[in-house]
Amino acid sequence: MPQNSLSQWQWRPYTREMDKAESTEYRCHNFSAGPAVLPVDVLKTARGELLNYRGSGSSIMELSHRGPEYMEVDAQARSRLSDLLGLGDDFEVMFLQGGASTQFMMAPMNFLPEGRTADYLNTGTWARKAIKEARIIGNVHEAFSSEDTNYSRVPRDGEIRMSDDPAYLHFTSNNTIFGTQHPGEPESGGVPLICDASSDFLSRPLDVKRYGMIYAGAQKNAGPSGVTVVLLRRDFLETARTEGLPSMLRYKTHAGTMFNTPPTFGVYLVNLVLGWLQENGGLAAMERRNREKAQLLYAEIDRDEFYRTPVEDGSRSLMNVVFRLPNEDLEKRFLGEAEARGLMGLKGHRSVGGLRASIYNACPRESVEALAGFMVEFRKTHG
Ligand SMILES: Cc1ncc(COP(=O)(O)O)c(C=O)c1O
Repeated sequence: MPQNSLSQWQWRPYTREMDKAESTEYRCHNFSAGPAVLPVDVLKTARGELLNYRGSGSSIMELSHRGPEYMEVDAQARSRLSDLLGLGDDFEVMFLQGGASTQFMMAPMNFLPEGRTADYLNTGTWARKAIKEARIIGNVHEAFSSEDTNYSRVPRDGEIRMSDDPAYLHFTSNNTIFGTQHPGEPESGGVPLICDASSDFLSRPLDVKRYGMIYAGAQKNAGPSGVTVVLLRRDFLETARTEGLPSMLRYKTHAGTMFNTPPTFGVYLVNLVLGWLQENGGLAAMERRNREKAQLLYAEIDRDEFYRTPVEDGSRSLMNVVFRLPNEDLEKRFLGEAEARGLMGLKGHRSVGGLRASIYNACPRESVEALAGFMVEFRKTHG
């Protein structure tokens, strides 16, 4: 039985004639880059618990964040994250707000002291934004950049040129817009890694001891927008600055306590997604499935010259498959015909154009098969 199968949800293919309102059960094939598809089982559970959360007579949204119901959700989410990633007792888990973009400034504010340098890998739009914010705070050294090839790749072994004694090395594990992904942790010579994992968080196991900090906006692989998961290694957190920083912007303020009202409904959904990940074999199983799904699309792209990807071998993302057609007119047609079949969200980011299939954890294999099938058909008629 395929996990997260759309057919469990009485799915039927979309047709232009179909009145979407006729069926609240209708689900499209959702390839949105984020906010993105969530597991159907998670949505069903949330729907079932919406009016009366476990006999409380209220939804979880309407209950105090310090009451027993929400405290249990919070504790379970922490313990599930720890179990899935093997965090042990070494990491502090935080559910913050302000998106990954707020972490672009908080990380250097807390971990880049005056007189030190932080190293950054410039692998795309989000990495560049992180660098821009860090430069407002202190000294930044670009230890690698693929800007000259329009971000077609991440660094190969031996290409990272670090500064002397950097405070940390920041990298973006998956570049959502350009469709590249680090195949593993970059070599940092023991310097703590800070990772923006927004678009591949929980899609594969991580060697967590290499990291000082991992952060991710939840809205791609972990839940809805509005929650940012921040994992901080305790000994690295010890080195965080406190003086001269407003309370909300200090990581130490958020360690081990709920300083202010967390995004409770978002964390509740994240917790359901974490439970779904556990039930479906954890991160190793997720990586295997993600690899198989991505391979279905890359096989079509590689078949001949009709489809092509600007991404170099060795840097291909398993999360965002970016590809082009022979010309922009055909790309427009592809999008229109795909949508008529219920294949939604395939437009590339506005800054790069082309097409992008985002196939995060919760994107069912049958959606990817439907897209691969459509690619074959479209090539036949227009190739
Ligand atoms: C890799 C990456 N980092 C950061 C961001 C920005 O995240 P947010 O909108 O949560 O600030 C995104 C958004 O798509 C992203 O893909």
